[in-house]
Amino acid sequence: MLNESNAAEKPQKIVFSAIQPTGALTLGNYIGAVKNFLALQEEYKCYYAVADLHSVTANPEPALLRKNTLDLFALFLAFGLDPARSTLFVQSHVPFHTALTWVLNCNTAFGEAKRMTQFKDKSQKSPQNVNVGLFDYPVLMAADILLYKADYVPIGKDQNQHLELTRAVAERFNARYGATFTVPEGVNPRCGAKIFSLANPAVKMSKSDDNPSGPVLLLDPPDVIAAKFRRAVTDSETVVRYDPKNKPGVSNLLAIYASLLDIKTSKAEKDFEGADYAALKSRVADVVISVLEPIQKRYRELAADKASVASLMKDGADKASAAAYRTMSKVYKRIGLV
Ligand code: TYM
Repeated sequence: MLNESNAAEKPQKIVFSAIQPTGALTLGNYIGAVKNFLALQEEYKCYYAVADLHSVTANPEPALLRKNTLDLFALFLAFGLDPARSTLFVQSHVPFHTALTWVLNCNTAFGEAKRMTQFKDKSQKSPQNVNVGLFDYPVLMAADILLYKADYVPIGKDQNQHLELTRAVAERFNARYGATFTVPEGVNPRCGAKIFSLANPAVKMSKSDDNPSGPVLLLDPPDVIAAKFRRAVTDSETVVRYDPKNKPGVSNLLAIYASLLDIKTSKAEKDFEGADYAALKSRVADVVISVLEPIQKRYRELAADKASVASLMKDGADKASAAAYRTMSKVYKRIGLV
């Protein structure tokens, strides 16, 4: 696993990552993934996708999936992902993702896919809909990454196991058929690789949280964000200290603060010496709002300009398809398809 600073020393590398258009994005997505998307864009050739095919595993209402896909693409642009430097596209616009998934399925052991903890968690959460797509989800993710020969994959901690599977499948394929795939490395942020729910700091901050106070949504208005932080669960002490094991709520707030200001958690701790929890919550909320407000403003402008967004989406799909086609042709040849 690389950290950001090692990654930055190696130029001319390829980066791939994606986000599912399943509802509103959270601050966890921003800190765990998007911040590194932006940092890596400065140095490398980056591909960033809206993973709409992954969302299909939850059988969303079609009109909602369509809306969420368009919204997330506009949000990519609002973050500052730059279509002139990075290839931004929608996964389903490049049919090679599913084609490569099939080939990788035939090189993935049933047992190793079954070990994926997200599959187990999601199956438990929605026992009425444990479909084959949900089981195969990490293989589709491996196909996304391997199609573009990515060296680095910026992700939050919850995706590390899927990245390990991707590496195992790539290595197996290369051993069976000859060097074909780059074996990718995950890039977790130094701080904030797992942001926790504000309502329950024992669980990951997630868009699908049943408790609306848990996730901070990237498009929440400032007053809503401030109110969520005011209600954030802390502990019965009074001292602001970074100690994830014993003080998970306070440490989560410090991690959010440190990550957004690009400082160490030890410096964050110093900033709050002598401060009470109310002051901590209010200051962290201010920092979050100062980061999100300009993104929200750009997002509103872009959402109103549907034609430009659609045209950028098409350009991205064309660029991604050209790269994916090269890998796919090689893979088919390697495995003996005529
Ligand atoms: P998704 O859409 O659930 O999340 C997108 C990214 O956000 C990170 N993340 C978090 N990081 C820190 N704290 C949190 N609370 C938090 N919640 C989410 C995730 O780790 C992820 O990096 N399967 C992927 C999407 C995907 C993908 C890929 C990623 C599809 N193909 C290829 C990388 C490479 C997913 O569902 O992420």
